[in-house]
Amino acid sequence: MPIGDTQSCILKITDQEFQELAKFVYGRYGIDLSRKRQLIEGRLSNTLRAKGITSFSQYMKLLFNDNSGEELHLFLNKITTNHSYFGRENEHFEFLMKVALPQLEKTRKGDLRIWSAGCSAGQEAYNIAMVMDQYFGPRKPQWDTTILATDISTNVLAKAKQGIYPAESIKELPEAWRTKYFNRLPNGNYQVCEKIRKEVVFRIFNLMDPFVYKKPFDIIFCRNVMIYFDAPTTNRTVEKFYDATANGGYLFIGHSESIDKAKSRYTYLMPAIYQKQLIKGGR
Ligand SMILES: C[S@@+](CC[C@H](N)C(=O)[O-])C[C@H]1O[C@@H](n2cnc3c(N)ncnc32)[C@H](O)[C@@H]1O
Repeated sequence: MPIGDTQSCILKITDQEFQELAKFVYGRYGIDLSRKRQLIEGRLSNTLRAKGITSFSQYMKLLFNDNSGEELHLFLNKITTNHSYFGRENEHFEFLMKVALPQLEKTRKGDLRIWSAGCSAGQEAYNIAMVMDQYFGPRKPQWDTTILATDISTNVLAKAKQGIYPAESIKELPEAWRTKYFNRLPNGNYQVCEKIRKEVVFRIFNLMDPFVYKKPFDIIFCRNVMIYFDAPTTNRTVEKFYDATANGGYLFIGHSESIDKAKSRYTYLMPAIYQKQLIKGGR
């Protein structure tokens, strides 16, 4: 094979195999792969080769009949797109600090329920924890603001728990935050400090499953996740978020995503920020 000829390493998927695999992923995870044929071939070819598998049909047989769940986790780790970084779409964190938290503090008593849904390697969830620390300052011990952070990829969740990132990933944060909330490691990476790491709980969770929770959420971040869903799946997921949002609570989505305003019960506040209408005294 000529050096740099990556094409010849790619295993081709047939139309029928592709449709079957895309249908499986869409049905289980809501992810629309219909225009991602090259991504599938590119990301899975090496996996198939490493297993000595020569066709996608053979691979799917293995995947669909694997009762341990192990093969499925490896597959999800391959096909999900997990790009994220600290300070991403920073207007959201500013809105949280200047508008949402002052409002919520008036109506909540000592706890805020926060969910980072599709959290990738934890950057968003830790960023929210830093905002909580900044906002509450010396009052923070009187507030439980534990953040639930969920994803379907076991790979990113393992990274998230460690909280270690390259310098590139934190460069959008203010210098003061980098110093306050991270420890520089000998290899040049940065680890989120323990105080902030303790504020986030990571769990595996598929957004296609029913949402089960003890109390509704005051703040939900689901940014750059529904971009991988089609419109009906996005609408259904947004409706589930709405039911899981406390009165007066907020939903943050990615700036390149949109919610069908005619279909959603959320009130649109500004680009990518929605609120469940305040009901007096309610949660
Ligand atoms: C691009 S990352 C977004 C990370 C972060 N929210 C941000 O905006 O930077 C998208 C994440 O959504 C996760 N995801 C995709 N489909 C999902 C599903 N059905 N349930 C839960 N997480 C999902 C992927 O594994 C991936 O880590």
